[in-house]
Order: sequence, then C-alpha cells, then structure tokens
Amino acid sequence: MKKKIKVFTILGTRPEVIKLAPVIHELSKHKKKITSRVVLTGQHRKMVDQFLKLFRIKPDYDLDIMARNQTLFDVSSRCLIRFSKVLVKEKPDLILVEGDTTSAFIASLAAFYLKIPTGHIEAGLRTFDKYRPFPEEINRQLISVVADLHFAPTKRAENNLLREHINPKKIYLTGNTVIDSLYSIAGKKYALKDDVLKKIDFDKKKVILVTAHRRESFGGPFKEICKAIRAISELKDVEIIYPVHLNPNVQKPVNNILRGRKNIHLLKPLDYETFVLLLRKCYFVLSDSGGVQEEAPAFNKPILVMREVTERQEGVEAGVARLIGMDSSRIVKEVRKLLNSRDAYAKMSKSVNPYGDGKASKRIVKAIIDNFQNSRD
Ligand code: UD1
Ligand code: UDP
Repeated sequence: MKKKIKVFTILGTRPEVIKLAPVIHELSKHKKKITSRVVLTGQHRKMVDQFLKLFRIKPDYDLDIMARNQTLFDVSSRCLIRFSKVLVKEKPDLILVEGDTTSAFIASLAAFYLKIPTGHIEAGLRTFDKYRPFPEEINRQLISVVADLHFAPTKRAENNLLREHINPKKIYLTGNTVIDSLYSIAGKKYALKDDVLKKIDFDKKKVILVTAHRRESFGGPFKEICKAIRAISELKDVEIIYPVHLNPNVQKPVNNILRGRKNIHLLKPLDYETFVLLLRKCYFVLSDSGGVQEEAPAFNKPILVMREVTERQEGVEAGVARLIGMDSSRIVKEVRKLLNSRDAYAKMSKSVNPYGDGKASKRIVKAIIDNFQNSRD
C-alpha cells in the first residue's frame, strides 16, 4: 500500500460511543496502514464523558455543540459548520459514522459536500415509517444515500440495502459492534456500587429495568408511558429501576409522575458496567431504546418494546422482544402477563443472539483496508 488511509470516526451520543469504541480500538491496531482520528461532535456531554473514559477514547477534536433542550436545527447547523472546518483542514480519506443520529447524518452530509467518502456502521435498519423513530428513520435512509461503504449488522439490514439498489460490492455483513462492546464489558468482574441498587433484592423481587427517551413520544405518549410505570409499581413484588435520560422532555414528566414511589428507583444515567450488570440481573426489560433491544437478548432477557414499530425486527421474530406500543393500559397488560405467566416468560427468555458474535469491528476494519488496497493497487 502506497499511503496510509486517514480515517476519521465521528461520535456524538452515548450509543455511538458504545458502538464505535471497539472500531476505534481495532483501527488503532493497524497503525502501519491506518491513521485514525476521533471527532466528538458533543451532541451529548455528560452522557458521553463517562463512556469515553471507560473505553479510553481521547477525541482529537471536540465540536462542543450541545445546548440545553436543543432542537434538530441547533444540532444540525452547529454540527455541519463546525465539522466542515475539520474536514477542510484534515482532508481524511474516509469518515466513519454509526447508526441514525443527527450527528451521524450531518457528518456524512458534510463529507459529501467535500467529496470525502463515508463508511456507515449499522447500515440498513428500516421501519419504513417516516416519523417512527423520529428523526432516526430518515437520518439512516439519508446516510445510506450518501455513504460509500455500508456495514450491515444483520442479513435483514443487508437485504434492505440491496432492495434500495446499493452496490452489493460495497455492502459488508459484519454483525453489530454493540455486541463487541458488550462482550468486552460483560467479561470483566464487576459489582454494583450504587447504594440504592445494592439494597435491591434481585432474588426475591421481580426487577424491571426501564429506559425511555424517544423524541416521537414526547408529550402525550410519554405521559402514558409514565402512567403505565406508576401502575406497574403497584403490582406485587415488583421493583423498577429507571435510569432517566437527561433530556428535559424526559426528566419533567418522569419527575412529575414517578418521583417519590418506594419501589421506583429513578437514577441518573448509569455507567455502562452498571447498566450491563443490571441487564444480567433484572427479570426483564421495558424500553424504547434501540441499543437495548440488541443487548437484552444477549443475556436471555425478555424485552418489551414501548414502540409501535421497530427497525430491530430480528428480536421480535426470534420471540425475545415484543412490541407493545405506548398506550398505558396495553403496557400494563403486557407487563402483567410477563410477570404472572411462567410460560410467557420462558418463551421470551430464549438464548438467541441475532445481532452479532463480537467480531464486527474486525470485519469492518478489514473491509476498509481491503477496499482502499484494491482501489490503490
Ligand atoms: C439523541 C439522538 C437519538 C439517540 C439518543 C441516544 C438525534 C436527533 N437524537 O437523542 O437518536 O437515540 O441521542 O440517547 O440525534 N442532554 C444533556 N446531557 C447529555 C445529553 C443530553 O443535558 O449528556 C439533554 C440536553 O438538554 C439536550 C437534550 O438532552 O439538549 C437532548 O439531546 P439530543 O441529543 O438532542 O436528543 P436525545 O433525545 O438525547
Ligand atoms: N445505557 C447505559 N446506561 C443507561 C442507559 C443505557 O449504559 O443508563 C446504554 C445501553 O446499554 C445501550 C445504550 O446505552 O448500549 C443505549 O443508548 P440510548 O438508549 O440512549 O440510545 P439508543 O440506543 O436508543 O439510540
């Protein structure tokens, strides 16, 4: 190879740090072939700092874009302008983005304007519903249009890309890098440190781990979710652990509707080691998160998904995830069923892992090297 490949990896939010950390580490193992740099957009601040520390990532650039209660216009405009300056100065050979955030889409758009190629990790997820999840469904479709290398986590995602006439030679079936990260953390010995969590009896109680933060739920649907959680806390032997997302649109209703109940433990966003341990220890998960849908099955934990549609259909088809919508009475009904029926619980606690085998990052970096080698030979 004549010249090293200059690869810039772009991170903005909590799940991007989790999912790109193993890729950044893998890139750094190929110093003879790759110059790797990391750009933090700063779309999230507190929620990424502890993850950067955990995964020992030191960004080369921090665009520092976050503002309280930011709009999509704030995130997009700041990211576009500030990232363009880095690109003009550094002229990388490739940028890598992950998933469906506005940081990821805008970074790929900025690269396109400068005719710099984009590699898209976790490509091909689709609900085909424009507003669900919002704006993620359209962000990832737009990234697919702009991207030059597409790293599909599953066969279904690969098929979606093929149907959209993406060049098959530029699609790589890799698995999802979240499983690489999960294995790297789950392999380490770790005990709960938080005083509230230490007091919970995970053997005698049925512990439900909750997360919720989707933009399309804000307002009425999010209140429904909170009302459901309040009703669930009245069921026998239930403990609810809910690390609350820092978005003010989440904090406000959660605090108004759920604060002050003995068996609802409202916590700050948890570090990854604690969250992964809770995934192992809980009875089941109630969530609207994307990443958590991929992680729960890795620990045989049923996950009830508070959404109407999901781009992670693999878990639903395998029977380990169930779409239950955002209507409070439906959520309570589905939770009751899983709490009370051993049969329903057993059916959803199967050992399947449709999202990866822990080697996705290796495949991605190999594909990058092969691609550039071939194009330069
Ligand atoms: C973003 C992504 C979403 C992803 C989620 C992961 C977009 C449009 N949304 O949604 O796809 O699933 O991250 O969590 O890209 N805040 C803080 N500190 C933080 C992080 C957030 O205070 O460290 C607060 C701020 O008030 C901020 C608000 O949360 O303005 C919203 O953050 P934003 O990134 O716009 O939206 P999320 O809902 O976090
Ligand atoms: N997570 C975490 N601490 C928490 C909540 C979530 O470490 O308190 C992790 C979780 O394991 C998953 C990721 O954050 O890997 C999911 O992030 P989020 O729900 O914010 O975003 P999404 O996946 O929905 O885009």
